[in-house]
Amino acid sequence: MLLQVLGTAAGGGVPQWNCACPGCSGARAHPARRRSHASLAVRADDEHWYLVNATPDLAAQIEDTPALHPGPQRRRTPVAGLVLTDAELDHTLGIARLREADRIELLATAPVRAALGDRAHLDDLLTPYAELVWRELGSRPMPLCDGSDVEISALPVSGKRPRYAVNGSGTAAGPGAPPHADPWVIALRLHDRRTGGTVVYAPALAAWPDAFQEALVGADCVLIDGTFWDDEEPRRSGFSSRTATGMGHLPIDGPDGTATRLAPLATRCFYTHLNNTNPLVDPDAPQHKRLAEMGLAVAAEGMEIAL
Ligand code: MLT
Ligand code: MN
Ligand code: ZN
Repeated sequence: MLLQVLGTAAGGGVPQWNCACPGCSGARAHPARRRSHASLAVRADDEHWYLVNATPDLAAQIEDTPALHPGPQRRRTPVAGLVLTDAELDHTLGIARLREADRIELLATAPVRAALGDRAHLDDLLTPYAELVWRELGSRPMPLCDGSDVEISALPVSGKRPRYAVNGSGTAAGPGAPPHADPWVIALRLHDRRTGGTVVYAPALAAWPDAFQEALVGADCVLIDGTFWDDEEPRRSGFSSRTATGMGHLPIDGPDGTATRLAPLATRCFYTHLNNTNPLVDPDAPQHKRLAEMGLAVAAEGMEIAL
């Protein structure tokens, strides 16, 4: 299995167009610090790649990645489809950028598909340009495409709806179900049956269910939610009245932080989906050393992972 990290930033990117915080100003002064919106490309077979999430940076991310370039025929692209981990705008605004395609294949859970269709009116908007072909993602592994050795399955990690779909019909899971029972936000498990390699991709993580822990234990590599360094960061930086946890992102640091859960695992761990307020967007920040001491690191843009 081959993966390319296309982007590593949370919504807004680094720098964010309307922000002069230290992280954004630092990235303007030092272009090497720039991070585009979090995304991943996965090779399904010799001719087909799937993009995990469709960010506002999608077209530039394709251009920056030679394996995703079209050719040799004029209109032949290796980009076979999109996998969505959630319906958030930073992971879906790029879908419309693919409107030049004849058809766009989308793998998503039922609530994500419904939100994009019924609330964001994506099908109404795009069908006059390109056929949208939806495939439902669930907990049962299925080939990424026909004949692919790579199997994909969903691990629900949060019931947080995007803001444009907050008010809506009740949960399918029913009363008393855990908050992540409705798969609004999922982690992906990708497993190559030929090589045995397994990766877990979890750019947003509000809970740590047992099934997620089990998947991590069995994985060779995990790319995981690094939105906020600590729980108070969104409030301290003044852009939100909510904590990291309240915004649906477990923080990295702290007693319930993800770092202490990841450090004991044998899995290679990389943080992605960094918010511009996260001190880790500065490569000189001491927090990088803290992570390194725990065997953890931040994912780099353009990183290639072969498993
Ligand atoms: C998130 O990662 O929680 C969302 O992208 C936040 C948002 O855009 O509202
Ligand atoms: Mn996000
Ligand atoms: Zn900023």
